[in-house]
Amino acid sequence: MARRILTGDRPTGPLHLGHYVGSLQNRVKLQNEYETYVLIADVQALTDNFEHPENLAANIYEVALDYLAVGLDPAKVRIVVQSMVPELAELTIYFMNLVTVATLERNPTVKEEIKQRNFTKGVPVGFWSYPISQAADITIFKADLVPVGEDQLPMIEQAREIVRRFNRLYGKVLIEPRAMLGAMARLPGTDGGAKMSKSVGNCIYLGDAPAMVRKRVMSMYTDPKRIHPTDPGTVEGNPVFTYHDVFNPDKAEIDELKARYRAGAVGDVEVKQRLFEALEAFLEPIRARRAEFAAHPGRVNEIIMEGTRQGRALAQATMAEVRTAMKIAYKFE
Ligand code: TRP
Repeated sequence: MARRILTGDRPTGPLHLGHYVGSLQNRVKLQNEYETYVLIADVQALTDNFEHPENLAANIYEVALDYLAVGLDPAKVRIVVQSMVPELAELTIYFMNLVTVATLERNPTVKEEIKQRNFTKGVPVGFWSYPISQAADITIFKADLVPVGEDQLPMIEQAREIVRRFNRLYGKVLIEPRAMLGAMARLPGTDGGAKMSKSVGNCIYLGDAPAMVRKRVMSMYTDPKRIHPTDPGTVEGNPVFTYHDVFNPDKAEIDELKARYRAGAVGDVEVKQRLFEALEAFLEPIRARRAEFAAHPGRVNEIIMEGTRQGRALAQATMAEVRTAMKIAYKFE
């Protein structure tokens, strides 16, 4: 069988550099070898944005544009809108029988996310149980590989557990997926925080205009102990250098900057200016491709609808197998 990828994003806003190094880069690289499905997870986005469903349609479109902008080829990759595949909801319900409350309560990513959000009326069941729906996302497409950032590992583990239980109980229908981490499991934020994250506001977005990229880079957190350009600085854990390592292809330039930084022979402004240039070289083609697609919204909508149609057909085929295996493919005729 063809090797298949499924991965996805919540359409809560534009995608940023963290998404790129965590997963988008791998998707672009692997789209030639794997049959690739990319899910725009609007149902999952609703689990903590249910008060603002009116933003989803525009966000889905923007995320699709980001995908096309980074180089996902619509001739190879199917972009699928989650809520337009209702079979996912059905599979989620069946999977709910295979997961205990205690297991959900242990999920470290969900725990962390609950802490960050402040659910004033308590944690909604939909949010707390989204790892089950994510397991349905992965397995309904029979994916064997899931390119994701590090924070998603507990979700893949949950999916694997569900698959093992399902296959043991009902017969071998589903595929146990593997996670694939990006070049960097976790890109730090511009504020030096552990992770680039929209809710923290420490992002550089793939669609940011040059002036905005410059502003974000120039205000980046660096070595806080360094007051004058002549003070010896620390490179390790300094996000400006982490970004250089990831986005600046000129390794000789990076080595030179690091040596001068450690020796107190270069100012933060110069290091940041060089980073800005490297980021621009990376972002400029993405921006150009984005503009090309954005000029033809009808074409983008078609890509979304065609990917969703193909994704749904595959989901329906899997659900027929699931129902047969579960002995609930009733005919009553
Ligand atoms: N939880 C993922 C995120 O927030 C989005 C997602 C939904 C996903 N379904 C998925 C990722 C399936 C990988 C596979 O970013």
